[in-house]
Amino acid sequence: MARPRSSLLHLLAAAVALLAVAASASVAPTCERIECPAYEVVDSANGFEIRRYTDAVWVSTAPIEDISFVAATRTGFLQLFNYIQGKNAYNATIEMTAPVLTRVSPSDGPFCASSFAVSFYVPAANQADPPPAEGLRVDRWPGATHAAVRRFGGFVADADVGQQAARLDASLKGTRWADAVSRGSGPGQAAASYIVAQYNSPFEFAGRVNEIWMLFDDDVSSNLRSAVL
Ligand SMILES: *[C@@H]1O[C@H](CO)[C@@H](O)[C@H](O)[C@H]1NC(C)=O
Repeated sequence: MARPRSSLLHLLAAAVALLAVAASASVAPTCERIECPAYEVVDSANGFEIRRYTDAVWVSTAPIEDISFVAATRTGFLQLFNYIQGKNAYNATIEMTAPVLTRVSPSDGPFCASSFAVSFYVPAANQADPPPAEGLRVDRWPGATHAAVRRFGGFVADADVGQQAARLDASLKGTRWADAVSRGSGPGQAAASYIVAQYNSPFEFAGRVNEIWMLFDDDVSSNLRSAVL
């Protein structure tokens, strides 16, 4: 009786295919409802994805010193939420976007505060002239900005961020991206810093999408591009 066995195999194959889809970082569901920065996937492998963002514009808080990622993100989020609700030089309301970024610049000592800067993506409608606001600044990522990305689920806790960043780092080891990513130096980024991207509001409990981003200058693909031109 080969039949039950083969349908079991089909079922297994379908399950494996589903898992593969879940593991490859498709566009976050939030981005089907609200505006997110566009990107191209340059490469993907077990545990990471390499993306190219083009001309992304962000509005960012000043660095927030805190011992807690979660607390610092809440502080920064409130400033930016007020900003999009009209607390800006033009009294303009701005559409909510995703993801919310928190740039983490770890401290050296175990008991020192780290530095966090929180950013909202500026929607296309406001990118030409984002309203200025006291204490906030506009960051324009120049041209193509590359990010090594690791996705994870759930509510982000303080203990998660360093661990997820270390996993991303480990997954890049031995790949052609490892050197460029460890040199870091994405726009305004110190080598040891990384970004946590969160796509969901605190009121969404299911299917939460978060990512670690490590920005880097991609010499490999810019060399390839200039070789082609
Ligand atoms: C913004 O609102 C404040 C308070 O209502 C007002 O004084 C100011 O003139 C407004 N600015 C603009 C650019 O509309």
